[in-house]
Amino acid sequence: MGNNMNIDLNEIDDNCLTIAVTSGKGGVGKSNIVTNLAIQFGLLGKKVMVLDADLGMANLDVLFGVRPKYTLYHCLEGRKDLLEVITSVNQNVKLIAGGSGISDLAELDEKSRTSFLQSLQKIRQYTDILIIDTGAGISSNVISFLSYADEVLLVSTPEPTSMADAYGIIKTLGKTGKDLPKIGILVNRSNTPMEAYEVSTKLTTLAEKFLNLKIAYKGYILEDEFIQKSVRSQRPLLSIYPESKAAICIRKLADSWVNVNKTHQPKSKMGFFQSILSLFSRKK
Ligand SMILES: Nc1ncnc2c1ncn2[C@@H]1O[C@H](COP(=O)(O)OP(=O)(O)OP(=O)(O)O)[C@@H](O)[C@H]1O
Ligand SMILES: [Mg+2]
Repeated sequence: MGNNMNIDLNEIDDNCLTIAVTSGKGGVGKSNIVTNLAIQFGLLGKKVMVLDADLGMANLDVLFGVRPKYTLYHCLEGRKDLLEVITSVNQNVKLIAGGSGISDLAELDEKSRTSFLQSLQKIRQYTDILIIDTGAGISSNVISFLSYADEVLLVSTPEPTSMADAYGIIKTLGKTGKDLPKIGILVNRSNTPMEAYEVSTKLTTLAEKFLNLKIAYKGYILEDEFIQKSVRSQRPLLSIYPESKAAICIRKLADSWVNVNKTHQPKSKMGFFQSILSLFSRKK
């Protein structure tokens, strides 16, 4: 497939950093992390686009406290263009809300697939950071979006089950071959910075030893009851409890990310083109 993809290679030239947030096990905090990272990147002056690609349980609209008129569902149904389903969260942060009813992007026909990718391409032109919430697990959708990204933020809690499933994601990603995104571990719900560091060290050591993959440690978010409070009030933690423990951790993560990426070089044009072609080509 791919040769009828109507994308001019010369147009594929942008500085948009794409971060996919994922986890092996569900419920580890991805959507809250995506929401608050986006808010902080926005506060740092970045133009941020958030894509809710959790096709099963899209809920970022609820966490941001916005009511989208249209969602990804309308776009993938062919009723709206991707550009028409963008909801504004604030001046710098925009959301492409997910919708229920979509099962697998890989099942889209060629025409919808091409127009989705072309619109995403247009969006990238005026976006500094694209954050994708992939949902949990290893479906073809998730793996496609992970390969599309420049960086994968893999979230694990200190629970052994969550760590085992995180390792499963690393293993699967490793098998997808060349032009892998950078993979970084974020430990959520840790009780101390030390605990998080130990969790990350276990995962990075295993990945290096058995898969020959270098994984970075991106940081930690402490266990914090204010996350649940913010979810209940449908306002991002950073907006209502900016001085809470978890908010401070997320700010630190976003700030250092922006500093490190001052000289962000996106994937090469050709690599990027390959990755969008493969975005939908993998079936389960
Ligand atoms: N650092 C934390 N401290 C305390 N509770 C947390 C923390 N992070 C997440 N939680 C709790 O976990 C719940 C699930 O978080 P979230 O919805 O972000 O997870 P998820 O990984 O996106 O889940 P899913 O896989 O279902 O999409 C939150 O509603 C909150 O109650
Ligand atoms: Mg989620």
